[in-house]
Amino acid sequence: MKGVCLCGGSGTRLKPLTNIISKCLLPIHDKPMVFYALKTLVDAGIDEIILVCGGTFNGEFMKVIGDGKDLGIKNLCYTVQREPKGIAHALATAESWAKGDSVALILGDNIFTDNIKDVAKNFSSGASVFLKEVANPQAYGVVEINEQSKVLSIEEKPACPKSNLIATGLYMYDQTVWNRIRDLKPSNRGEYEITDLNKNYLETGELNSYKLSGWWADCGGSLDEYTKTCFDFYQMKGN
Ligand code: G1P
Repeated sequence: MKGVCLCGGSGTRLKPLTNIISKCLLPIHDKPMVFYALKTLVDAGIDEIILVCGGTFNGEFMKVIGDGKDLGIKNLCYTVQREPKGIAHALATAESWAKGDSVALILGDNIFTDNIKDVAKNFSSGASVFLKEVANPQAYGVVEINEQSKVLSIEEKPACPKSNLIATGLYMYDQTVWNRIRDLKPSNRGEYEITDLNKNYLETGELNSYKLSGWWADCGGSLDEYTKTCFDFYQMKGN
């Protein structure tokens, strides 16, 4: 399995900080935000990674991350999403690089403490989403599951969420993902939504879910969320 780490987008929700730096390079505790996402992949045994940039500060990623060896990455590539047309669209930029392998996709503004090594090792086909219970599900992709953890529905930012469980910014896809992305239609906001891609797998009965037990944060939602994550992380590290 290869890893795709998304760092595009214009960071509108974290302005004015993102006027001078990409969101995923903002500091969290003692590291740039994206280091945490890259570490989640490396800790899962995924050391061939492509970083998808986009926006004004593409070159800065290379200055900060370089060849990735210091982070345990064996083979790091960079590419650019030319327009911010959604997460599934950004993932599509990695198609020729993935060369038919399955991929783990991680959003560069998500921080996880779970180790997903076993799930990555046992992944064979379909798609997997990683779930977390939150107090404000309407801000995320909301997942409804039954008692056997079978996914019943998945909806992007619904006004009336069917559960408190949401899909975090970590996903695994088999090699059928590229054709499925080609079948997607843009959403009302003109983006190729990751939730629509996951719905496609749900419709063919190939969407699996795993509940995370560790701490998780999406640092990109708002300045409040970003500063709260910095604070929580600082406390969690025992300082
Ligand atoms: C994106 C996805 C959403 C997911 C979230 C996780 O939302 O669209 O389904 O739950 O990431 O961080 P965004 O943060 O781009 O609004």
